[in-house]
Amino acid sequence: MQTTPHLNIKAACLHFVERTLRGIHLSKPSMALSAFLYAALLLTCLIPRALTFTPPHIVLIVADDLGWNDVGFHGSEIKTPNIDKLAYEGVILNNYYVSPICTPTRGCLMTGRYPIHLGLQHYVISAPEPWGLPLNHTTMAGHLKHLGYATHIVGKWHLGFFKTEYLPTRRGFDSHVGYWSGKEDYYTHMDQDGYWGLDFRRDMAVVNETFYSTEQYTKEALKILEHHNKSQPLFLYLAHQAVHAGNGNAPLQAPQRYVDRFPYILDHKRRIFAGMTAALDDSVGTVVSALHDLDMIDNTIIVFTTDNGGPANNYDGNAACNYPLRGTKNTLWEGGVHGVGFVHSRLLNVNHTQTHNLVHVSDWLPTLYGAAGGDVADLGNIDGVNLWDMLKNSGPNVRSEVLHNIDPRSNFSAISVDDYKLIQGDISGGRNDGWYPCNPPSENQNFWKPNAQNFHNSDESLAEIPAETRKTRAHNRHTPYVIDCGPASTDPTAVCDPSTAPCLFHIPSDPCEFNNIAQSNPGIVRVLQKALSVYAATAVEPVNRPPDKNANPTLHGGVWGPWQ
Ligand SMILES: *[C@@H]1O[C@H](CO)[C@@H](O)[C@H](O)[C@H]1NC(C)=O
Ligand SMILES: *[C@@H]1O[C@H](CO)[C@@H](O)[C@H](O)[C@H]1NC(C)=O
Ligand SMILES: *[C@@H]1O[C@H](CO)[C@@H](O)[C@H](O)[C@H]1NC(C)=O
Ligand SMILES: *[C@@H]1O[C@H](CO)[C@@H](O)[C@H](O)[C@H]1NC(C)=O
Ligand SMILES: *[C@@H]1O[C@H](CO)[C@@H](O)[C@H](O)[C@H]1NC(C)=O
Repeated sequence: MQTTPHLNIKAACLHFVERTLRGIHLSKPSMALSAFLYAALLLTCLIPRALTFTPPHIVLIVADDLGWNDVGFHGSEIKTPNIDKLAYEGVILNNYYVSPICTPTRGCLMTGRYPIHLGLQHYVISAPEPWGLPLNHTTMAGHLKHLGYATHIVGKWHLGFFKTEYLPTRRGFDSHVGYWSGKEDYYTHMDQDGYWGLDFRRDMAVVNETFYSTEQYTKEALKILEHHNKSQPLFLYLAHQAVHAGNGNAPLQAPQRYVDRFPYILDHKRRIFAGMTAALDDSVGTVVSALHDLDMIDNTIIVFTTDNGGPANNYDGNAACNYPLRGTKNTLWEGGVHGVGFVHSRLLNVNHTQTHNLVHVSDWLPTLYGAAGGDVADLGNIDGVNLWDMLKNSGPNVRSEVLHNIDPRSNFSAISVDDYKLIQGDISGGRNDGWYPCNPPSENQNFWKPNAQNFHNSDESLAEIPAETRKTRAHNRHTPYVIDCGPASTDPTAVCDPSTAPCLFHIPSDPCEFNNIAQSNPGIVRVLQKALSVYAATAVEPVNRPPDKNANPTLHGGVWGPWQ
């Protein structure tokens, strides 16, 4: 069993105290003397903890737009051996939730607060828009800095750059190599967002070089690890560009050698997407081996998370897959918010585990801050919960609800309380409400996903889905966790149109959101609506601002950058 040095010392010490006290008791000394001895001995147990606790290094790897069914450990046809190995060795989060789009998730990840409490609940920051994560919120980097961490971000920011105060290097990070906007070309680092401009920096310095982002970020991460003085705890936020789409003219980009690993994926777009994912997977493997080589792995916590569900159904011209979950990125269906995530660390007292306990992206700040020895009360009134003990010791469920979002501009909302999820409003503009297999039907291989033939597109009648339940929980550490959709009802009231009436789903028995049970459970609907209105009363106004033409990179030497 893996234990930290201080735990060994503490356990040995408490054992010693217990034995000594038993000795004192037998020799019948005065009350005062035994009280004094007791206090003195107890102190000797506590001092070693303070002296030997070394805050762990934290490596937070965020994949952009990685879908539920884009990793091997969920049964994807895309092989991700490095990610899978790390996941299987750690704790896989089977009920892990994120926001359905980039900026809200990243804001929540950095602050431990729901997007409604940040003003980030409506859509994402477009490059020419003058807004960002409000400055009165301290980021994870800022908090960890107070605990003595060195803090570095490599990759995507997407929390605002219209003024220098919003940049990561002004918000707790010692350094940043990467880009400030939401997406760009993987090679030229040009972002087209109303205007064209270069978006790649080393801190403030513009970098105009051609390289494949995913590989460059790996190199930058290695540089940070190699130059890091191990006597200081390190926070590395590795926010990959992969596997977000590039610009509209070239959404899918991967070096051919990665694409060539997937000759068996016949769909051309999905095959390039698989190549993008393979580059990400190699990056994870390389970073982890560096942590081994540098003797840091024993005292490191690695968190791997997607920022939102996958852009399936050609969203953004991309080819991610959430199947069999319903919907895509930018919807409040499970496919948009039920995220890929796990934690790996030798500091965990468990190995090769999965948890069905609820985990939300807002929990990382308090969890990591707590694991780093910080007092979570320092973080103020946050929405996240410290789950370190639960993860470390396979503890019982801590969280009972997740607010998926309340968007007052688009007028939709969703919340999960215990086993139920309520969705109301036009959560996807009428698009992307279906179940999208990972390969188009004509090229569907059917060899990697036994139930893939069950749906070919969202229009297929639910009645055609076999009513058998397929319990395919992972039985051992190398069995992928494959979602069991359960049966679909043929009752016409089971059809959900959240734009006309709220829909209710019982997620444990219906993770694929086939069966709207709102009509038969009006009491539960009311309870969840009440929970939503309690949250709504605490929301701040969205901080979105319309695009500003002064952001145009042609006014600033062809580069995107703070213009106000
Ligand atoms: C986890 O597995 C590794 C390798 O199999 C082993 O060395 C370690 O002791 C295990 N830790 C726990 C807590 O079981
Ligand atoms: C930040 O400012 C907003 C808007 O002024 C306010 O509603 C919110 O409570 C502040 N949050 C914190 C953590 O200070
Ligand atoms: C690392 O930091 C410690 C503590 O600040 C210092 O004593 C040591 O010299 C540093 N090592 C290197 C190689 O810079
Ligand atoms: C917003 O959505 C709610 C619940 O779906 C609905 O009752 C209300 O009429 C909608 N408001 C607007 C302005 O569309
Ligand atoms: C980047 O380099 C390319 C090729 O050398 C050049 O055409 C382009 O103008 C440069 N962009 C900026 C913003 O300097």
